[in-house]
Amino acid sequence: AKLENIRNFAIIAHIDHGKSTLADRLIQDCGGLTNREMKQQVLDSMEIERERGITIKAQTVRLEYKADDGETYILNLMDTPGHVDFAYEVSRSLKACEGSLLVVDASQGVEAQTLANVYQAIDIDHEVVPVLNKIDLPAAEPERIRRQIEDVIGIDASEAIPVSAKTGVGVHEVLEALVTKLPAPKGDANKPLKAMLVDSWYDPYLGVVVLVRVMDGVMKKGMVMKMMATGAEHPIDRVGIFSPKKTPVESLGPGEIGFITAGIKEVADTNVGDTITEAKKPCAEALAGFKPSQSVVFCGLFPADAADFEHLRDSLHKLRLNDASFEFEAESSAALGFGFRCGFLGMLHLEIIQERLYREFNLDLITTSPSVVYKVHKTDGTLEELHNPADMPDPVRIAHIEEPWIEATIMLPDEHLGSVLKLCEDRRGIQKQLTYAGNRAMLIYELPLNEVVYDFYDRLKSVSRGYASFDYQLKEYRQGDLVKLSILVNAEPVDALAMLVHRSQAETRGRGLCERLKDLIPRQMFKIPIQAAIGGKVVARETISALRKDVTAKCYGGDVSRKRKLLEKQKAGKKRMRTYGKVEIPHDAFIAALKMN
Ligand code: GTP
Repeated sequence: AKLENIRNFAIIAHIDHGKSTLADRLIQDCGGLTNREMKQQVLDSMEIERERGITIKAQTVRLEYKADDGETYILNLMDTPGHVDFAYEVSRSLKACEGSLLVVDASQGVEAQTLANVYQAIDIDHEVVPVLNKIDLPAAEPERIRRQIEDVIGIDASEAIPVSAKTGVGVHEVLEALVTKLPAPKGDANKPLKAMLVDSWYDPYLGVVVLVRVMDGVMKKGMVMKMMATGAEHPIDRVGIFSPKKTPVESLGPGEIGFITAGIKEVADTNVGDTITEAKKPCAEALAGFKPSQSVVFCGLFPADAADFEHLRDSLHKLRLNDASFEFEAESSAALGFGFRCGFLGMLHLEIIQERLYREFNLDLITTSPSVVYKVHKTDGTLEELHNPADMPDPVRIAHIEEPWIEATIMLPDEHLGSVLKLCEDRRGIQKQLTYAGNRAMLIYELPLNEVVYDFYDRLKSVSRGYASFDYQLKEYRQGDLVKLSILVNAEPVDALAMLVHRSQAETRGRGLCERLKDLIPRQMFKIPIQAAIGGKVVARETISALRKDVTAKCYGGDVSRKRKLLEKQKAGKKRMRTYGKVEIPHDAFIAALKMN
């Protein structure tokens, strides 16, 4: 294709503002799919994505559009994931394009993820085409939102296009704006190959499929390619585009976006953001800004039924085929048996993996409290990265501990400002900025990630009745007064419940957990102390009183089969109990106690 007739753009939006619906419309208008094929949203293909209405993997589609000027243009549309956990994937897909289509719901206005994504686009000098979506809704206020985009984001929105992705109004104008406002890509077909690895996934028929954006040179079947970060070389065996169906093509030239396969075994062998070149004739330097994906949140995953351990291992391997951004290694816990320590990009990522294990692999799992990565500076001058509170070195060998901090952007209606401020303060937040746009407040806070991974999203949603939106960026590591809080049941520490907390929160957290466990652990024939302790110092304590009378005395008569059933049930229940200092803790108690966080 001629460079002048190519337009590459990303669609950016806050969750639910209609990005996928608009993408579908554009595809449909360009004749990429028939109405029947459109029935299901094509871009959000994974079942969970569809159900939760979130886009996890960035997808791309090549469209042919005959514009009003009579020319036919190639439009490469990239869908970007909307959620903060996948910010790095967003930044890569943006870098593969020259412009962004900014979709703002005209009834909701600018939200936290609108801002985060649009600033990334502006940073890399994207031409931004704003779109006011959902104008068919009675609550839509396109003029007010137009002003809001100018006030809050600071871009010219005078030509923002009013659209209804639902009815199709304004879609033609969007296509025209893409052609007339966005710049064509630049590049030189005669230079050595330089392409960006934008994404990769596992296809059961084709193996690993790699999404690429060619900058310079040409990618062809048979060429031996080299990935610059790892040095790995593979002969390319397929080159194609998504129209949106996979369609083979001869080659991909400068400015083009498409896919290749090259006999790559695992998605883990490809790094998003890496530069692909030709082994024989490599380009001089790689594209800037590549970084390998890094886990931010860790937790233990244990099978509720120990017999499922191998099944869990297989399932994790299968999931990793398609998602190289989560990692796992075997771990064992006295309380929970054998399982895996897993690392994720963020809380949503954790939830998605957990849900897929449950849904697609039928696994009943226990998840330990999520933990961030701490940097433990030891008195001998060495540094240890701590992913699991249970592995914390002896406090006497610790000089100090650093924890990750984030910069969070929160947007909310001002009537909820008070409670959100309180929430942020309770979580050790430091207010950086408070501004208003109409009756919406925009807050910028620095917060320790450790306070956010617990239940911050849920609390934020509940104190703002669902109206606050949230986005964050990792900022830096800072020293913190962090201590390991241990939970002891009948004087025995329960490893699965250990956590690192700020000293100021230790007592409250400890008391909460003790109270919770008290209700969850069944009474026994003796008194059971439940304690929360920092080192040897107990900071909270509850006691489960002993059983006084024979509970079975209440049972009477009844038929034999019912009794036998009850006994069998009891037997099964007992199998699921874990013994702690002669105290039997039902599995459910662990789950409930861990859920509390
Ligand atoms: P993510 O992919 O999760 O970021 O969400 P999204 O931005 O792609 O939103 P999606 O396209 O899934 O739309 C969210 C909801 O808004 C869906 O229920 C759509 O049917 C609805 N919607 C999208 N566009 C319009 C519109 O123009 N008018 C109306 N009334 N509803 C719309």
